[in-house]
Amino acid sequence: MSELTVENITDVVLQQMSTTPNARQKEVLGVFVKHLHAAAKEVRLTPSEWLMGIDFLTKVGQKCTDTRQEFILLSDTMGLSALVHLMHDKTAVEHATTTSLLGPFFRENTPRYKAGEQIAKSVKGKEVVLYGRVSDAHGKPLANAEVTVWQTAENGLYDIQYQDDPDVRGIFTTDANGDYLIRTTAPVGYSIPMDGPVGDLVTSQGRHGMRPAHIHFLISSPDYRELVTALYIDGDAHIADDVVFGVAGELVVKIVDHDPACPIQGASSVRYDFSLSKASEADKMSGRVGADPAAITKAAAAAE
Ligand code: BEZ
Ligand code: FE
Repeated sequence: MSELTVENITDVVLQQMSTTPNARQKEVLGVFVKHLHAAAKEVRLTPSEWLMGIDFLTKVGQKCTDTRQEFILLSDTMGLSALVHLMHDKTAVEHATTTSLLGPFFRENTPRYKAGEQIAKSVKGKEVVLYGRVSDAHGKPLANAEVTVWQTAENGLYDIQYQDDPDVRGIFTTDANGDYLIRTTAPVGYSIPMDGPVGDLVTSQGRHGMRPAHIHFLISSPDYRELVTALYIDGDAHIADDVVFGVAGELVVKIVDHDPACPIQGASSVRYDFSLSKASEADKMSGRVGADPAAITKAAAAAE
């Protein structure tokens, strides 16, 4: 056995891990170990700093529940989720609408609505109509596409943060022309949950925890890549410094006061046309960078 040194330990570890039968697992963990070791060497990581890291990750895990995913929040605030989105968009077989974060407030439990129905039930705010078309990458309208939306109410909170019943979220279906029509209230910018280890970290870095006002969309149609995105409201103070790096220029929209083309008159509105890429073989795997936190805890418990 050769003696371990700072110089050879990475190769020794990779050699021992080379028996991993799953090729992709071998590649991902091998590269991860390589970069982890390189980072530890570059910063000359001390034992107390190493322990601080272990302590931090332990607290992140302890904060995770059926309604809170602190690890996703960590990934989001470090820009990892946004990076995975950017890379995923490049693998689409056709050019489609840019994706954005699913975030921790997506819920499987979402009511279905008919076109034009109001999704904000318990908290009143400025009414806004969302309308537009869902098409394929060549402009062909997609009828019966499923359009799921969720957002903050006027109070700057998602339903789960103030009540059990789903609110300001809904599933709509496009009509024969591929058009969707949603009545909601204006979303409000908000702070990500800051009462945990990730919030402490963000604060320690001198950063704020704000996201600009936005509306989440998840759009699906058979044989097309599912689109996970969000529309960001122009003029919000945090459009340029979103704490989780979700904003793309293409996704910034204006709330228009009087749009003569809007199918519902008398309210402000946003028109946005979405396009979906054809699904590839790889798109049979989920492209969602996120999940309902309850689904993650359930899967972890089932694997025990
Ligand atoms: C959200 O948009 O819902 C969100 C995304 C990332 C972190 C926190 C919230
Ligand atoms: Fe959000």
